[in-house]
Formats: sequence, C-alpha cells, structure tokens
Amino acid sequence: MNLPPLLEQIAKKLQQENARAVLVGGAVRDMIMGYAVNKDYDVEVYGLASILELEKILSAFGSVNLVGRSFGVLKLVHEEEEYDFSFPRLEKKTGKGHRGFDVVTDGKMDFEEASRRRDFTINAMGYDIESGTFLDPFNGRRDMELKQLRHIDDSSFVEDPLRVYRAVQFSARFGYGLADETEKLCREMVERGMLEELPKERVYIEIKKLLLKADRPSVGFELMRRLGITERCFPELHALIDVPQDPEWHPEGDVWVHTMLSIDAMERLIRDESAFSIQYSALREEKQKLKLLFAVLCHDFGKPLTTIIELENGEVIAWDPSTCLALNAERFARIRAISHEKAGVEPARSFIYRLTDEHDFIESILPLIEHHLKPLQFYKQGAKASAIRRLATKVNIEELVLVAKADFLGRTTEEAKSAVFKAGEWLLEKAKTLKVEKKPLECLVRGKDLIALGLKPSPEFKTILNEVYELQMEGTLETKEEALAYVKKKFCGAETKSDLF
Ligand code: CTP
Repeated sequence: MNLPPLLEQIAKKLQQENARAVLVGGAVRDMIMGYAVNKDYDVEVYGLASILELEKILSAFGSVNLVGRSFGVLKLVHEEEEYDFSFPRLEKKTGKGHRGFDVVTDGKMDFEEASRRRDFTINAMGYDIESGTFLDPFNGRRDMELKQLRHIDDSSFVEDPLRVYRAVQFSARFGYGLADETEKLCREMVERGMLEELPKERVYIEIKKLLLKADRPSVGFELMRRLGITERCFPELHALIDVPQDPEWHPEGDVWVHTMLSIDAMERLIRDESAFSIQYSALREEKQKLKLLFAVLCHDFGKPLTTIIELENGEVIAWDPSTCLALNAERFARIRAISHEKAGVEPARSFIYRLTDEHDFIESILPLIEHHLKPLQFYKQGAKASAIRRLATKVNIEELVLVAKADFLGRTTEEAKSAVFKAGEWLLEKAKTLKVEKKPLECLVRGKDLIALGLKPSPEFKTILNEVYELQMEGTLETKEEALAYVKKKFCGAETKSDLF
C-alpha cells in the first residue's frame, strides 16, 4: 500500500514502543477498491496506556493539535498535511443529536471491539501499517465482492440516523446495493422519523457527495425514494413521481423518470471537461458543478403544479395523483405543463433551503430553472440578438445551455439519442458572437461619464443609464463613443439640461 513516508516512520516508532498504528475508515476502503485516496488519513493507535504517551511520540514528527484530546483524537500537522491519530474507542448514545455520545477510549481495546461502532463493514477495515496486513473483522471484503453495503450492528447503526444518507451516497458512488437487513433497518429508521432530527448541514454533506461523487446520482435518488426518504423529507422531489408527460416529447415516462435520466446526463456532461471552458479553482469548480446539478434536479419541479391533461372526450383536468392515477393513461389525448419552468422556482427554493442556507448560491440556481426552456424556444423562433442579450442579463447562457442539454438528453426520443442538441449549439454560437455567453453586456456609460459630460448627479441618472442600456440591448448603440454622443445630444442640450436637472 502506497502511504506517506511519515506514516511509515510513525508506525515504526510506535512498534518500538510495543504499539501499532492502524489506518482506518474510508482510506482503507478506497485503497482496496482502487480509488485514489484524496483525504486526510485516520490512524488508530493500539497498545499505548495513555493518550499523553501518544502525544509525546507524535510531537517528534510535527505539531500536535490537542483539540480532540478528550475524545482520544490528536491532529498531527506536518508540512501542511494533516493526520488524525486516535485511540480505540467505544461510543454510547446518551442524548439527542450526533454530539449526544459518551466516548470511552482505551488503548488496550482490540480492533474488532473498536470497529463495532462503525457504520458499514466496508468502512470497518483496518491496515496495520508496520506489518502491512489488513484487518477485516466484519467481512468487508466479502461485501465488496458482493457489491453490497451491510451495517455492522443494529443498535450502534441507529444511533446516528445520518447513516441512512451515507448508505444512499455510498450506494450511488460505488454502485452497491443494500444488504436486505440493512435496507430493512434503514426503512424502519425513516418510518420512525429519525432522519428529521438531523441538522441540515450534515444531510447536505451527504447529498453533496451523492451529487458530486457518483457517476449516476439517480441510483441514490432512487434509493431515497425506495426507503421512503423523498416522501417524508423532500416532498418537492416526491411530487415528480407519476406526473405524466406527453409521450411524443417524453417517451421515457413520468417526470421523475425524466429527472433521473437528466441528472445522470448532467453528471456525464460535467465529467466531459470540455463542458467547462473556464479554469475554476477547485472550490469554485465544485460550487459550479453543484449549481448545475441542483438546477437539473429541480428543473421540472413546476410540472406537478401545472400539468393539465386533456382526455379523449375533450374533458380537461389538472394533474392530481388522487384522481388521475385511477384513470387509464390511454385516454389521455394531450398533456401539457404550461409555464412549469416559472412555477418550479418556488418549490426549488424551498427544497434547496431545506439543505443549506447559502442564500446567494441558491438564488444563482433559480434563473437556470426559470429559463431552462429558452434555448429551445429561442432556436424555434430564431430569436433576435436583442432577446439573446436580454437573456444574458438574467442567466449565464453557457450554464443554461448545459442545463437545457441535460434536460434534452434525459429523454428517449430519437433526436435525444443522437445526442446533438441543436438548439443549445445554436444559442451558444449566437451568444458567443454577441459576447454574452458568460455575462451580460457591460453598460457603455456609467454615472461618472455623465458627470464628465457636465450633468449633475440626480435620480435621473438611472433613467439615462437605463435608456442607454436598452439601446445597447437593441444593438443601436455599440461603442462608448456612440453612447456618449447619444447622451450628449439627447440630455445635454442647453435648454433641456436645466429643465431636466
Ligand atoms: N463513520 C461512521 N458513521 C458515521 C460517520 C463515519 O461509522 N456517521 C466511520 C466510518 O468507519 C467511516 C469513517 O468513520 O469510514 C470516516 O468517516 P468519513 O470521513 O465521514 O467518511 P469516509 O468513510 O471516509 O467516506 P468519504 O469518502 O465519503 O469521506
């Protein structure tokens, strides 16, 4: 196993003290599964009598952070790398929430006993660094072969309901199923309302992992549906189930089915790096990916609210599962969801706020939902440059085209199967020519330009600037010189100047 040399040196030193360093948690799992380990290493130290002894040994290798000492955790910082060292521990639930635990640490505990508190067998393996041996007390390797997540212990598993969300994201990331007994337990936890006790920040971390780390996030959302999570915790998502769509445009099925295909399509588009023409820092890139993924996940949240079904006999009914599900779909002559893109904004807002309070981030997603039909509409209408410039003031066109493309690819029409999204290519091309594919046109004239022309600052400035911007949108004014000349002529005439200001 390829480990940082520092860990090997520490393991050697610990062995000289009759102790052993065991790598634990996700790093061991990822290494065995062949994934890159790009995380902090967690090491459990067995055989020492006191945490102070460990602290002394580690201090020779770098600075040791004592913050977690009472829980038997020491953070070692070495050349900007962080390593967590901990004592084997037992955790006992004493109160509500993930902090309501009594922790008992004991350097003499054995690996199996200490690992019993962990969630899944594949997360309870260890790697003894010095001897180079794997420890696998709960048969995690066998579960890897069976491609399944199996919980270790009923009573400790239920102590942290977040583990149900962890099951969801691991299942999608690794393409694993849940062992029958684990699925049953997760379902019971959902039914007992245990997931509702979780703070949104913790749930959001798992949903982010589902969206960002899974090749097919739909696997996780389908599991959430099966376990009853969408019904209890995310009504906006649950409402998509069974909502019918016109088979001509959506032969794949209902809105839920389409959304699942679309979210996986977005994931593929993101992985195809050519979709990103700008180099983002890792954090910005993560935020931007999340923005696109959330936009696609929520793009049709307005459909349950706006879907209208025309029956063969001419009768028109609004979608309502309690009445419509009893009808024979063959009697549906036409299905429409007019203005669903606008109707989706509010439910999307409440859905994402249930996961995070990042106001600006949430608000940046909503225009992508509100305008997701524009690429297709503009293409069909052969929209004018002015309409495209105006669209750019509301939404980033490059991102919008990606969202609309995922919506297009999330269908099973012949056209979608060709994977060529003509409408998107057309709009992007036009927007690039107009230089508005990433941001709106900049105002050619600013307040300071008006002052330089001799105008006195006043609320009228806004009117002038808006008028100039409107003319820019129309393409009448293209350069700063033209814009200044226009202002001069219209607003700086001797007689009008004193009247106006
Ligand atoms: N763990 C657990 N129950 C939790 C959280 C964590 O049992 N609710 C244990 C698991 O053994 C897990 C380890 O703590 O492997 C580290 O947790 P964490 O860093 O959150 O996740 P990883 O398993 O490392 O996975 P990821 O790749 O998602 O970070």
